[in-house]
Amino acid sequence: MMSPSCIVPGLCCLVVALLVYHTTRLANRRRPPGPKGYPIVGSLFSIPSEKSWTIHDRWLEEYGDIVYYEILGQPILVLGSAKRTNDLFEKRSGVYSSRPRMPMINELMKFDNTFGTQKYGPRWKQLRRAFSEVFHPCVLPNYHPTITAQARKALARMVSTPKRWEDHICYLFSGAIIEMTYGIEIDDVDSPLVTNVQWVVNAVAESAVTVKYLVDIFPVLKYVPEWFPGTGFKKFAKEFIRMNELIKNEPFDRVLDATRGKGTPVKPCIATNIIERLSEQDSNSRPEEEEVARLITVQACLAGFETVISAARAFVLAMVIHPEIQKKAQEEIRNVVGVDRLPSFSDRNQLVYVNAVIAEVMRWHTIAPFALPHATTEDDVYEDYFIPKGTIVIGNTWSVMHDPCQFPEPEVFRPERWLTGRSSREILEMPIFGYGRRICPGRYLSMDMLYTFVSSMLAVCDIEAPKDEFRKLLTVVPEFTDMILSQPQKFDCVITCRADIDFSILDV
Ligand code: HEM
Repeated sequence: MMSPSCIVPGLCCLVVALLVYHTTRLANRRRPPGPKGYPIVGSLFSIPSEKSWTIHDRWLEEYGDIVYYEILGQPILVLGSAKRTNDLFEKRSGVYSSRPRMPMINELMKFDNTFGTQKYGPRWKQLRRAFSEVFHPCVLPNYHPTITAQARKALARMVSTPKRWEDHICYLFSGAIIEMTYGIEIDDVDSPLVTNVQWVVNAVAESAVTVKYLVDIFPVLKYVPEWFPGTGFKKFAKEFIRMNELIKNEPFDRVLDATRGKGTPVKPCIATNIIERLSEQDSNSRPEEEEVARLITVQACLAGFETVISAARAFVLAMVIHPEIQKKAQEEIRNVVGVDRLPSFSDRNQLVYVNAVIAEVMRWHTIAPFALPHATTEDDVYEDYFIPKGTIVIGNTWSVMHDPCQFPEPEVFRPERWLTGRSSREILEMPIFGYGRRICPGRYLSMDMLYTFVSSMLAVCDIEAPKDEFRKLLTVVPEFTDMILSQPQKFDCVITCRADIDFSILDV
């Protein structure tokens, strides 16, 4: 008989053998199809520095709707159909909801304080819950008066200086979000409350471009001292940290002062509401509670301005290109609302075509063509494919929203697709707002703001392409920028006030 002293080492050997067998078996498991790349570097040199996702479209076409590749050992999975994104981001959201390691953005620029770039875990859950509470669809009607008033002010500016239409769009959305969040009215788009946030957002968008910073490929470079040649990225990261702190603290401190009767008064807003509920100043939990409040308020500005502005500019572009669609939407507004007032939230359900135009704008121009990358938190097996823990998983939103099986002739701007068989409200749960547990928590607010802008703009203004010397409309070709957040490229348009409009409807 075997002695007990032999059993223990024997069992250990067995466990080790099983582990080795299991790990090797998993490591050798079939990966989804994709480019093989080169030893060590993988597909590093296949990724173009501009329009990095165009290569994904090509690969999705070549290999199918799920593509796997590696860059320097980092596994990357691209999903190119609603079935794939649904199978992984929705049905397996417990595994597919984290964010990848981004040494430049998270570690050097210290942008891990905002939960949009945070890994899945308790801190993310805490901030996401706090944020979702203040932007929950049930509380949004509280902000409707602010949105409506800001839209009127922006439209009055649009009518008096139509050539500055892009500034007025920026004024509307950034002004509405700042007022909702901090109760502060901005005078113009060059207010530091707007420009500083834009600086931070652009810096993040530029840093997120694949293979822009070597430190993302060789994280060890973050330890290179700042005096070393070629470390401009470290100086940039330092400046970023300063600006990020500034936008987080400066407006919040103004509200805090106002609630203590100091400085300039602010209107009741999300920040004042939260501050009222904070523990006493000398309580132990106060610093942490206050930090959470600062983070979720600044997050609204960081995630909210540029996304909605991009959608609004895409709407103007679509109207320039499709005057017949504009006319149809304007006729609907005439019939439902008349000319004596602006459309309001109570008209929304009846403005079916206007809502379809908004949904189609969101589909046609995918603002975040790749959403934000997710990452897996565990090894997974999907349809016999092995997906290792730590894989970066990219939902190719552009492909999903331009899938000809779902949206016939996907490149055509056609609001009618949202009138039969599909409701325009469905857009709220579609990939343009991202996936699974990470889906955009600001989507209801975005649609409320876009409804106000689109319906009142159509009620008051005509949007046209510029004309040539024979008064013939010039052709405007839609082009979009290729950042992580895509915007229509600059285009010309002529905005005029509709002849039968009484300007007093714009009085706030
Ligand atoms: C048209 C407008 C908008 C679009 C198209 C949009 C789209 C997106 C997308 C694609 C994501 C990534 C989701 C994912 O990782 O799967 C996202 C995340 C996020 N969005 Fe939006 N967004 C918009 C407006 C807003 C607004 C107005 C706010 C705030 C008031 C907001 C707040 C956020 C936040 C906080 C996240 C991070 C969520 C997380 O990581 O858990 N967004 N958005």
